Amino acid sequence: MAFLHHFYFLIFALCILYVKSTDPSAQVCNENSKNTTTKITNNINSLLTKLVQTTSLSGYSATSYGTGQAQVFGLAQCRQDVSTEDCSTCIQEASKEIRNICPNNVDARIWYEYCFLRYNTENFIGQLDTGYGTFYANVENVTDPNTFNEKLGALMNQISSSASTPGSKGIGKGETELTPFVTLYALVQCTQDLSPLLCRQCLAIAEGVFETFCDEKKGCRVIYSSCYVRYELYPFFFPLDKKLALESSSIKNCSSYVTKP
Ligand SMILES: *[C@@H]1O[C@H](CO)[C@@H](O)[C@H](O)[C@H]1NC(C)=O
Ligand SMILES: *[C@@H]1O[C@H](CO)[C@@H](O)[C@H](O)[C@H]1NC(C)=O
Repeated sequence: MAFLHHFYFLIFALCILYVKSTDPSAQVCNENSKNTTTKITNNINSLLTKLVQTTSLSGYSATSYGTGQAQVFGLAQCRQDVSTEDCSTCIQEASKEIRNICPNNVDARIWYEYCFLRYNTENFIGQLDTGYGTFYANVENVTDPNTFNEKLGALMNQISSSASTPGSKGIGKGETELTPFVTLYALVQCTQDLSPLLCRQCLAIAEGVFETFCDEKKGCRVIYSSCYVRYELYPFFFPLDKKLALESSSIKNCSSYVTKP
């Protein structure tokens, strides 16, 4: 019982921290991946420097560092609607924090609201990966599930098409009116190394979680290594009144769930 209590407390704390956008929303240190060696650790550090530089400028980077057994592959991406400044701050923080959470294993991943960073000695670039998942759902239910599901489905179709169109940088976002007073906002994003087809597949898997874990909830986030999907009944993506969105999201309670491969 004591353990369960502790567990729920952690989950609850994570939900609240998450909306501050300065704390990780999910993290993976794959204990089944091999241990680092001094050489690999040095390569990880050099790779991170390279990823931070490139991603700060262009919002995305997939690259590698080193050779042979010690070669390390890395990918970093900001949410494409955030400013260059927010992107740069986020990716710098991610590159520091990922070493803290995972000092000993070669497969590490970290997600923030504004950016995502991962590395591994195995080459994962261009591959669809929905092995690790972190889901957050608002505990409150919508009042009119039929209309809601219909509108959500239509909006998801539309923005998933945008996200998987070449040249979109993997992002799709939009809004739709549920009633004259309530608007539904949604954003989807794939990592830019994915082909349009794999992006579409990742988003379809993520949207599947809407029908199970997030069924009829007022807000939901599905976080995978290859894509991210979120909807809310308040604006949360840019351009927007940042303060308004953060305030309205910070009063929401959410439940969360983590999957492993
Ligand atoms: C990694 O290091 C730990 C602690 O030293 C050890 O128990 C484990 O067997 C190692 N794992 C691998 C895959 O080498
Ligand atoms: C939402 O709906 C589910 C399923 O009908 C129900 O179990 C749950 O208690 C509801 N949650 C709230 C906060 O009303």
